[in-house]
Amino acid sequence: MSRKAVGTVDKTEKICYNSFITCNMEVDPMSTILLAGGAGYIGSHTAVSLLDSGHDVIIADNFSNSCPEAVSRVEKITGKSVKLYELDIKDTDKLSAVFSENNVDAVIHFAGLKAVGESVEKPVVYYRNNIDTTLSLLECMSRYGVKNIIFSSSATVYGEENPVPYTEEMKRGTCTNPYGWTKVMMEQILEDAAKADPELSVVLLRYFNPIGAHESGMIGEDPQGIPNNLMPYVAQVAVGRREKLTIFGRDYETPDGTCRRDYIHVCDLADGHVKAIDYALDHKGTEVFNLGTGTPYSVTEIVETFQRVNGIEIPHVYGSRRAGDLPESYANADKALSILGWKTRRDLADMCRDTWNWQKNNPDGYRK
Ligand code: NAD
Ligand code: UFG
Repeated sequence: MSRKAVGTVDKTEKICYNSFITCNMEVDPMSTILLAGGAGYIGSHTAVSLLDSGHDVIIADNFSNSCPEAVSRVEKITGKSVKLYELDIKDTDKLSAVFSENNVDAVIHFAGLKAVGESVEKPVVYYRNNIDTTLSLLECMSRYGVKNIIFSSSATVYGEENPVPYTEEMKRGTCTNPYGWTKVMMEQILEDAAKADPELSVVLLRYFNPIGAHESGMIGEDPQGIPNNLMPYVAQVAVGRREKLTIFGRDYETPDGTCRRDYIHVCDLADGHVKAIDYALDHKGTEVFNLGTGTPYSVTEIVETFQRVNGIEIPHVYGSRRAGDLPESYANADKALSILGWKTRRDLADMCRDTWNWQKNNPDGYRK
């Protein structure tokens, strides 16, 4: 198999950031967590939170939307080493080797394709990748007796029918694109697997809109090509890579006419995974948690806050609505607080400041 060790960083090089979980280098490794797709945006931030909390981290990624440099930077931030495997999670034979070589306690499944528009153009590619990675992980877990899996789901599963704020007991709704349907299907597959195996613990994390970056500015979101999502687009306008932002629609039934979303700092989201791991290791069956702040902000508010916090003008124009956009999407975040003891700690100003800190230090992302 093609295996690539990124290398380790001397512990004295660790830069101690004020993580809200812990910044303690003395803790003994608690569990070994396999991050499938862990070199990506959310996975790399989660790796930092897990390592800072004393867990051991293994990453398996095919770098279809990321690069090994992100993992090197995780090591630099934490002063800890990460075992890195370059492989396609769909390849069950190669994935089996990861399980046979390591005592994996839990899996976090980030390995998915996530571009909504691309999923409409290439539905089969999306269904093949997102469903098969899930099946492949479940098969290997079963073979090696691994009983805990955390899944990166999305608020998109609430679909068009459910009213905001979304609560976890609402039925999954109707999605407007194949990406969303893969999340619905993967939730169902995981639930069914947990029903069939009473020892299995499945935690479905429904992310709202992750933005921001680690406060070091060393890791962040690095989209390939033209960004689809709002914050990376704003950041690329700020750094001069794009001329102006187009705000999609100002005639929604919202306070200022632009869509409202529940933006969450990626480091808060990452810390939520540490709590979810603790929970999964102690429970059986399926549990669902929203990971959001519970507070929506409009597109206009995002642009205004980014400009104010960073002292940079973001040229923008108003355009027509983007197909498939809901006027509002935000969480009721009570369940994660009451059961996981998790809530967000960073505000919108932090999100805008940390996004810019990453972008200005890495104008071309990891590719410079
Ligand atoms: P990302 O693209 O940065 O990370 C996904 C990682 O998975 C990448 O490193 C990619 O190379 C890897 N990958 C994809 N297919 C793979 C395969 N077959 N084998 C091995 N590696 C593979 O995306 P992200 O923003 O970090 O999102 C992580 C997960 O969270 C995804 O499942 C995504 O759908 C979900 N999610 C993201 C958002 C968001 O706004 N970022 C919102 C809701 C849910
Ligand atoms: N927007 C603009 N201009 C842009 C980009 C986005 O005005 O150039 C607007 C969108 O119309 C929307 C808001 O900014 O009103 C947020 O858009 P994003 O694309 O950043 O986020 P979405 O809420 O559309 O999508 C996100 C994830 C999806 C996930 C969905 C629901 O990217 O993966 O949330 O959970 F499916």
